[in-house]
Amino acid sequence: MHIQKSKVAIIGSGLVGSSTAFSLITQGVCDEVLMIDLNHEKALGEVRDLKNSIKYLDRNVKVTAGGYEDCGDADIVVITAGAPPKPGQTRLDTLDISAKIAKSIVDPVMASGFDGIFIVVSNPVDMLAYLVYKLSGLPKNQVLGTGTSIDSARLQNFLADLVDVDPRSVYGYAMGEHGDSLMVPWSTVTIAGKSFQDVITDNPELVGDIDLDELVLKTTREGWEIFNRKGTTYYGIASACVGIIKAILYNENSIIPVSTLLEGEYGEADIFAGVPAILNRNGVTDILEIHLTEEEKDKFASSAAVIRENTGKILGYIAD
Ligand SMILES: NC(=O)c1ccc[n+]([C@@H]2O[C@H](COP(=O)([O-])OP(=O)(O)OC[C@H]3O[C@@H](n4cnc5c(N)ncnc54)[C@H](O)[C@@H]3O)[C@@H](O)[C@H]2O)c1
Repeated sequence: MHIQKSKVAIIGSGLVGSSTAFSLITQGVCDEVLMIDLNHEKALGEVRDLKNSIKYLDRNVKVTAGGYEDCGDADIVVITAGAPPKPGQTRLDTLDISAKIAKSIVDPVMASGFDGIFIVVSNPVDMLAYLVYKLSGLPKNQVLGTGTSIDSARLQNFLADLVDVDPRSVYGYAMGEHGDSLMVPWSTVTIAGKSFQDVITDNPELVGDIDLDELVLKTTREGWEIFNRKGTTYYGIASACVGIIKAILYNENSIIPVSTLLEGEYGEADIFAGVPAILNRNGVTDILEIHLTEEEKDKFASSAAVIRENTGKILGYIAD
């Protein structure tokens, strides 16, 4: 008999990593959570704290602190180690240091025999996911970044608040870079199947004077609005990450916008960018190509250009 256990390793036991672990165990998503951090004592502290939750939760999820050598039998390795931007910095300002950290992680994880799915959360996430893909040598379906999953949730929240509906009834994606250049294909946004344009027409008192460009900017800025108030963000991204993990471990075929390798989709190739993708036990099993207007195609291409330019800056880490 062979009953398989599900194991998620989280690298980086900071705010994002520990929030992800907490969300995993409170929802009982997997059998085992492994925490790894350069600062092993920090990982141990988080593990000891997390273990004290189990008595009051639905499942006895095993939580351990360990090293990269323990990743060999993990189904998923989540990378949250990084250097979050300091006040005044953008996500792109952390590119070089984050790339160094990613390289120091991927090599030993692969040496452990890992053959599961990497989920990159560390910023700038699109470039780092590309780097992890190249360094790991894993097939493209086995490496993804959280990308615009969090931006899409933010957009859906704003739209839901405007018309007072459940954000889960709003269907719309932020796409492209998880960063300042992201775009929203408004022509595809619906509220439970009703096009957002029709919602505007039918609800002049609620959304008649809506400025869509302003809403995109607000979506882009939301991370910073949170950052300015509490110094960082973690609950939202941890929830997005766990949503992705559930789609994979439960073999759900869920469509979630994640950062994945483009090979001609949306007119782009050889970059990781946020696009709606079908996720199941194989990771990114397919990309959903929604039809964009000419203007939306241009905006996606501009965002892709930002990703391409910045990805070019870390190619040296691949050649090393
Ligand atoms: N993708 C997103 O939407 C999103 C949202 C929020 C934060 N982030 C990113 O997530 C990352 C982590 O953010 P945080 O708030 O948890 O930061 P944090 O400073 O709280 O934690 C980072 C952790 O990484 C560890 N670490 C650093 N270098 C390491 C290495 N080489 N190996 C193992 N561990 C290492 C540190 O010891 C620390 O515990 C940052 O890159 C941040 O920008 C991404």
